[in-house]
Amino acid sequence: MGKEVILSLKNITKKFGALVALDDVSLDLYKNEVLALVGDNGAGKSTLIKIISGAIIQNRGEIYLKGRKVDFASPIEAKRAGIETVYQDLALVDSLNVANNLFLGREEKVSVLGGTLKFLRHRYMEKRSKEILDTLGITIPNIREQVKFLSGGQRQSIAVAKAAAFGKNIIILDEPTAALAVKEVGHILELVKKCKEEGISIIIITHNLEHAFMVADRFAVLRVGKKVGERLAEDTDIDEIVKLITGGTLVKNGKDGSERKIVNA
Ligand SMILES: Nc1ncnc2c1ncn2[C@@H]1O[C@H](COP(=O)(O)OP(=O)(O)O)[C@@H](O)[C@H]1O
Ligand SMILES: [Mg+2]
Repeated sequence: MGKEVILSLKNITKKFGALVALDDVSLDLYKNEVLALVGDNGAGKSTLIKIISGAIIQNRGEIYLKGRKVDFASPIEAKRAGIETVYQDLALVDSLNVANNLFLGREEKVSVLGGTLKFLRHRYMEKRSKEILDTLGITIPNIREQVKFLSGGQRQSIAVAKAAAFGKNIIILDEPTAALAVKEVGHILELVKKCKEEGISIIIITHNLEHAFMVADRFAVLRVGKKVGERLAEDTDIDEIVKLITGGTLVKNGKDGSERKIVNA
C-alpha cells in the first residue's frame, strides 16, 4: 500500500438538529487502497460518505483532496474532482439499456463527437461501454438490454463499472454486496480489487465483515458518530472489529444470525 494520502478528512462534525451524526471525525484515505468503513446502524457511515461525495455539507471540519482543500457544494462538484459514489439503492434506470445507464448524466462527454449526430453518439456510447465492461472483466451478453432484465449482480457490476470508469481518484461503495446472491458476491469483490489495480482508492461500506476482509487493506470503525478505531487488515480480525463496532455489547453475529456475546471492548 502506498502511503500517499489522497483524501484527508479533518475534524468533521455533522449535526441534524440536536443529533450529532458525526463528531469530530478525522480520517485519511491513501492512494490505491481499499478502506472498509464499518459501524452499526446509525454510526454515521452514510453521512460521512455523503459529505465526501458532496451530497451533504458538514457543520465543521475540512476535506483535502491531494492536499488541496475542497468544498463540494454538490455531488456534481465531487464527481468533477474524480469522486464517484455508488449508493445503496442502485442509481440505475430500469428502462434504460446498459450503455445508456453507463453514460447517464455524462452526455456532455459524449457530445464531443457532435451533439446533433445522435447515431454516432449511440455507436460511441456502445463502443465505450463495451470497453469499460471489458476492462473490468464484466460480461453482459447484450448491452442493449434494459437493465431491469439483468440479475442483481450484473446490475451492481454496472453501477460499480460506471463509478470506476469516471471516478479517477476515489470510488465509494455503500453496501455493494448487500442485495446479491452468494455467487454474485465474489464477482463484485473481484471488481473492487480490479478497480484498485487500476489505481483508484476505494471506500467500501459493508455490514458483512467477511466480505470486508476479502478486499480491504484497512478498516475504519465508527460508533455513534465517533471514529473509534483504525486497523490494517493484516493486523486485525473479525472479532476485534466487532468489538470496536459494538463497544463490547451483545451483537448479532455470524452467518446464521445467532447472537454472540462479545466481552471486554
Ligand atoms: N437527513 C437526516 N436527518 C436527520 N437525521 C439523520 C439524517 N441522516 C442521518 N441521520 C441520523 O444520523 C445518524 C447517522 O446516520 P447514518 O449516517 O445514516 O448512519 P449509518 O449509515 O452508519 O447507518 C443516525 O442517527 C441517523 O438517524
Ligand atoms: Mg447507511
